[in-house]
Amino acid sequence: MRGAVPKPTPAPIPKAWRAEIGEILLTQAQIQSRVRQLGVAISHDFAGRELTLVALLNGSVVFLADLIRHIPLPLRLDFIGISTYRSGTTPGKPQLTKQLQIEVHGRDVLLIDDILDTGSTLENALASLEGLGASSVRTCVLLDKPAGREGSLRADYVGFTIPDAFVVGYGLDFAERFRNLPFIGILKPPHKPNT
Ligand code: IMP
Ligand code: MG
Repeated sequence: MRGAVPKPTPAPIPKAWRAEIGEILLTQAQIQSRVRQLGVAISHDFAGRELTLVALLNGSVVFLADLIRHIPLPLRLDFIGISTYRSGTTPGKPQLTKQLQIEVHGRDVLLIDDILDTGSTLENALASLEGLGASSVRTCVLLDKPAGREGSLRADYVGFTIPDAFVVGYGLDFAERFRNLPFIGILKPPHKPNT
């Protein structure tokens, strides 16, 4: 399921965020409708199986919370933590911040992340799940930023394919802020990388 490319929406930016957010890329309504479609597609594809969801901390939590409520299948859920952006907008070396606790051996796993950029986070997580003996691993990301890609990784389920911009909101952060925005916005320049 490839990502829909969002059309520019001149949606008004709530007053609380106007100083820092320059543009709304995806409104709350656009996100909700697409997340529902992803849930329907996943439910269809995994019908009759028990699904093990593995979500990457911290960015995927808002997306995950909405997505699982559109998947009426028996499912197990756990988290792994891989952090690449230490504080700013520049990627660093991936660091494992939380290990998986549930058994994935012989299981059909769906790996969930907020955004696919260089691909290194998802590649690391995929390799680790395969190493733990998962019988299948599929991937689902809300956003795909193909301009940032370093390898050839493609996600199986993509919410939106977005342009090469640093985005925040709906779980995505800049220096741990902005995760609580109900929409996805583009930060006003200049960002301060690694501050
Ligand atoms: P990758 O390893 O380069 O694919 O990056 C994936 C991770 O980088 C995601 O889980 C995000 O946490 C973070 N990331 C990449 N692009 C953005 C962005 O535009 N905004 C916020 N976080 C981002
Ligand atoms: Mg993240």
